[in-house]
Amino acid sequence: MRVGEKLPQLQGQMIQRTRRLQVWFIRVCSGILVWACLLQLVSVGEMWHPRLLTGLAGSTRMWVRVEDPLPSSPPPLVPAREYTSNGFLKVSCNGGLNQMRAAICDMVTIARLLNLTLVIPELDKTSFWADHSNFEDIFDLRHFIGSLRDEVRIIKRLPKKFSQRYQYQPLVMPPVSWSNEKYYLQQILPLFSKHRVIHFNKTDARLANNGISIELQRLRCRVNFQALKFTHEIEALGNKLVRIIQEKGPYLALHLRYEMDMLAFSGCTRGCSEEEAEELKRLRYAFPWWREKEIVSEERRSQGLCPLTPEETALILQALGFVNTTQIYIASGEIFGSERRLEALRATFPRIVKKEMLLGPEDIRLFRNHSSQMAALDFMVSVASNTFIPTYDGNMARVVEGHRRYLGFKKTIHLDRKRLVELLDLHQNGTLSWDEFSDAVRLAHERKMGQPAHRRIADKPKEEDYFYANPRECFCKSTSCDDLLGTGNKTIIEPDMIPKKGV
Ligand SMILES: *[C@@H]1O[C@H](CO)[C@@H](O)[C@H](O)[C@H]1NC(C)=O
Ligand SMILES: *[C@@H]1O[C@H](CO)[C@@H](O)[C@H](O)[C@H]1NC(C)=O
Ligand SMILES: *[C@@H]1O[C@H](CO)[C@@H](O)[C@H](O)[C@H]1NC(C)=O
Ligand SMILES: *[C@@H]1O[C@H](CO)[C@@H](O)[C@H](O)[C@H]1NC(C)=O
Ligand SMILES: *[C@@H]1O[C@H](CO)[C@@H](O)[C@H](O)[C@H]1NC(C)=O
Ligand SMILES: *[C@@H]1O[C@H](CO)[C@@H](O)[C@H](O)[C@H]1NC(C)=O
Repeated sequence: MRVGEKLPQLQGQMIQRTRRLQVWFIRVCSGILVWACLLQLVSVGEMWHPRLLTGLAGSTRMWVRVEDPLPSSPPPLVPAREYTSNGFLKVSCNGGLNQMRAAICDMVTIARLLNLTLVIPELDKTSFWADHSNFEDIFDLRHFIGSLRDEVRIIKRLPKKFSQRYQYQPLVMPPVSWSNEKYYLQQILPLFSKHRVIHFNKTDARLANNGISIELQRLRCRVNFQALKFTHEIEALGNKLVRIIQEKGPYLALHLRYEMDMLAFSGCTRGCSEEEAEELKRLRYAFPWWREKEIVSEERRSQGLCPLTPEETALILQALGFVNTTQIYIASGEIFGSERRLEALRATFPRIVKKEMLLGPEDIRLFRNHSSQMAALDFMVSVASNTFIPTYDGNMARVVEGHRRYLGFKKTIHLDRKRLVELLDLHQNGTLSWDEFSDAVRLAHERKMGQPAHRRIADKPKEEDYFYANPRECFCKSTSCDDLLGTGNKTIIEPDMIPKKGV
């Protein structure tokens, strides 16, 4: 409630409204397939998928019901699933908000598979972002526990007898990355005969992207799309932000991942001054767990491993056909080199907005020192945007892309950075004219707009498409999902943002 107390009355009303919506969502969503909820969710976002459109008429009617006063009694909870718990699963998530979000979905799924009791996940407080937020500062705890009752038992903390104060020592271990059901059933489950509590101290990518039963894949989605809701405070401020931007017209959310941590760890310094490059290098050496120390920036860049610079981004957006009146929301933290580096982008696209410009200092004050809460706002604005473009494919890019697919394949342009730096260099040294460059950029991205597609399956898990970027099992009817394919040629046309040549 810390933030809520400070919110002006208008936001109080929004919170009320959001609560009513939530109540309604719980009622409508509980026990039904994620699919059904999707139909209601898309009625607020734009979409073009014909199959989803068929369901829209009905869902609009249901949406209107939100305006009706709801009975004041709390919504009925879904009946809890009865099972004998095999033990307690405690988890400490690692990484930034979106990496942890995916991990939470995985951990619920593992707890369900093994019939465990899950303790509310601990969030990372020691990562580069050093945010002290707990689960309940970011996510609606009651909703999370209540809406998953029919799958898995979730408790706020371990029973006293298992706490450290009582000298109980749980088994602490990181599960093997990208493991499947067999690993958890055969390697992890037996450990519970000796230990009542197992503590997974790492959670990133511990469950395979593929080869998991459809029920469990759908549970991952249910957690992601339904059980994980931000707190009322974050939702209210995020909705306010979205409303302010939408009042000015359609917008592109640009995840300009040109941030200090990204540059320090990737070793990408193009466009930086010598002092800046030194500063980044010092930072990289200061983090002992970052193993790779000596990096040649240009090599990295040519392999497509650098985030696009603000200057490169300006050219690519123009090449893709975005006109200079496009409203661009910068969904990132502090841009490295700040205004100096944003200049090129702003010169081409004067309608750049940032949350700091749109919200009052009072609105943002309590969020400012909490990178995960700020990231939650960016998440909301990015999911709601007309087009989303990340300049690097990290966890935020992927999780937001997945959410947008779920909302009816809203356009996400997945930049092919390796190809783009080739083209940029050829254009800049005069080999490619603007038109040739622009055509090549468009051609390279025709099929990279978040259309329905299969996930790529590879020999190495690292090379596979990430489940949460394209959780297709959750929004198609047949298990093969072929019913979704072949419909990805259409695009959302935005009056202010129409690419010149039909991207
Ligand atoms: C989980 O519980 C169900 C019954 O509720 C049982 O059928 C299943 O075998 C159990 N699985 C494990 C791994 O304990
Ligand atoms: C996780 O636990 C293992 C075993 O106790 C330990 O070796 C490892 O350093 C821990 N990792 C983290 C990130 O705490
Ligand atoms: C935007 O582009 C149009 C031509 O396409 C030009 O007339 C106008 O001056 C430009 N506006 C800005 C702010 O650059
Ligand atoms: C945020 O952190 C800065 C520096 O660490 C501190 O000066 C400021 O008071 C903090 N603001 C809030 C609202 O906690
Ligand atoms: C431009 O760069 C490409 C490769 O980066 C090179 O092959 C080509 O010769 C260059 N052209 C000119 C005119 O410098
Ligand atoms: C999509 O495009 C491909 C070729 O570009 C075409 O064969 C296919 O029929 C199109 N599908 C739809 C649904 O328009």
